[in-house]
Amino acid sequence: MPEIPQFSSWPSAFGYYPSGSKEEIVLRTSILVLILAASFACAQSRRSEQRFRAQVPRMWDDAAMADLELPLPRARYSLRQVKAEYYYRIPIRPVYKTYPVYPIQNEPAGYIDRLQHEDPAVVFDSGKLKSRQDWIRAGELVFDAPIALFGMDAVRDPGFVARTGVPLASDGSIPTLRYVIRKKGTVQLGSFSCGMCHTRVQPDGSLIKGAQGNFPGDRVVAFSVRRLAAADMEQALKEAQYNARSTFQVPWAIPDPLHEPWFNMPLAQHLAAYEAIPPGVFARHRSSVFAPPQLPDLIGIAGRRYLDKSGLQQHRGIVDLMRYAALNQGADDLGDYGGFIPAASDFKTTVDPLTQERYSDEQLYALALYLYSLRPPANPNPSDQLSESGRKVFERQGCASCHTPPAYTNNKLLPARGFEVPTEHRAKYEIMDVHVGTDPVLTMETRRGTGYYKVPSLLGVWYRGPFEHNGSVATLEDWFNADRLRDDYLPTGWKGSGVERRPVKGHEFGLKLTTTEKKALIAFLRTL
Ligand code: HEC
Ligand code: HEC
Repeated sequence: MPEIPQFSSWPSAFGYYPSGSKEEIVLRTSILVLILAASFACAQSRRSEQRFRAQVPRMWDDAAMADLELPLPRARYSLRQVKAEYYYRIPIRPVYKTYPVYPIQNEPAGYIDRLQHEDPAVVFDSGKLKSRQDWIRAGELVFDAPIALFGMDAVRDPGFVARTGVPLASDGSIPTLRYVIRKKGTVQLGSFSCGMCHTRVQPDGSLIKGAQGNFPGDRVVAFSVRRLAAADMEQALKEAQYNARSTFQVPWAIPDPLHEPWFNMPLAQHLAAYEAIPPGVFARHRSSVFAPPQLPDLIGIAGRRYLDKSGLQQHRGIVDLMRYAALNQGADDLGDYGGFIPAASDFKTTVDPLTQERYSDEQLYALALYLYSLRPPANPNPSDQLSESGRKVFERQGCASCHTPPAYTNNKLLPARGFEVPTEHRAKYEIMDVHVGTDPVLTMETRRGTGYYKVPSLLGVWYRGPFEHNGSVATLEDWFNADRLRDDYLPTGWKGSGVERRPVKGHEFGLKLTTTEKKALIAFLRTL
């Protein structure tokens, strides 16, 4: 809510017009009416602010959890969640105060020494939160709170920025990573906050929180393993193989046809698959280095019925968003997929909950309120004649039947090539029987799969990219370039390890437009 200036500070706004004519009086009166209306609205919202009572739901409810995700295409291997009784035994991770991380070249003199003298401080205390704004601000702290801690060596390696391409903020820091002090004298590198993957660092170093992130996470993974390998090759290989299995292995075929050869490759080749993944795309757990999902824009998330490219999780209200955050930051790895437990050291023995950490329900509630509060940055692209003619192209081409305003998605799931919709899905989910023909691997062959792809929202395409569920094309121009269907196409986004050329298939809408029409259509899309 923007601050509305007090009456007493506005005298010049009234004094500007010389008194006299009727028009001026009308003008002044209408300004007055506007201000009165604004202050009325403000008082209303202050009252609703006073009325705001945080109602933190008990997030993990066994019945709701069992029905939350869509089944995998091989339904027998769908995630079986841990039970509430188990989940709530996991200790809560406090949200600590954090500090900026600088590449060694930009690190202020004596910085780490100074941090070593800092006391640990917990900054999230739900007992102190009163208004909705308090909760939202606290939710931002949760969004930026690292959940995994590492040593500082890799990030302070002089080659870190050059070799990973991690983007820097305007103050020279790495805004997506933070130092954490949980014990005085021990400074640790904190990572895997929501903000690490869901913050976009603009070319000028400014940040768009919640937008499609551009932290090159997979390259950072590969960089760290390569450093470890230089010291201890055997250990590095062991860790890399365990992590790859835990993150990507599928349980329905042993050996895993998609990944098994890759698990066993020499380390350099194995890591090349991570290094081939560009910023804006991330091989999230349960997906695949051979079908990594594009990072979504979280701004506008309230308008989306399904979460993830495959529509894996339902989003029926705030508690489902809390569940998504809990599951994807550790809890789904504790459950099992037809007997396969990703977090277990042997992939099959139930993990001791006391060795884990979780968010509190209060933290998740604050986080979800924060995500709902995110607004897009001011759009610099004007609506003009070109974009208006693009709007007509959009309408003529029937884009709106799927990308329906105002959310620019109809929130439906479309079956991928090779998926037969089970009858019981029709009553339960929003399904549209159209195949857009994009690559089916992510949704058919991974633990994030459902057999569907959802219709993505087109809001905010002007500040994001790469596009398509694997981020295979860098720009909208590339998405509407018919050459991408050719076998000798050079994808401008994610290509795949060792892949030189390949087609980016499917979604042929708009590909046959004239150059002028495409220009107009893209200009229109950039105004959204
Ligand atoms: C390591 C990177 C990473 C971290 C950390 C991360 N995410 Fe994500 N997130 C992703 C990727 C990649 C996807 C896309 C997954 C897909 O489409 O299958 C995603 C998807 C989502 C979605 C679904 C959005 C949509 O429109 O489909 C939400 C919501 C989300 N993340 C919220 C969060 C929150 C909240 C946190 C912190 C609690 C978080 N994420 C932490 C990488 C990350
Ligand atoms: C039948 C439904 C349907 C129609 C019609 C349709 N789209 Fe899509 N659109 C989709 C789906 C589904 C995807 C996601 C495909 C994927 O990544 O696998 C998508 C993806 C996109 C993307 C990429 C978004 C991103 O974040 O990666 C853009 C841009 C887009 N569509 C624009 C259009 C335009 C413009 C039109 C009309 C010329 C159109 N679409 C017609 C269903 C449709």
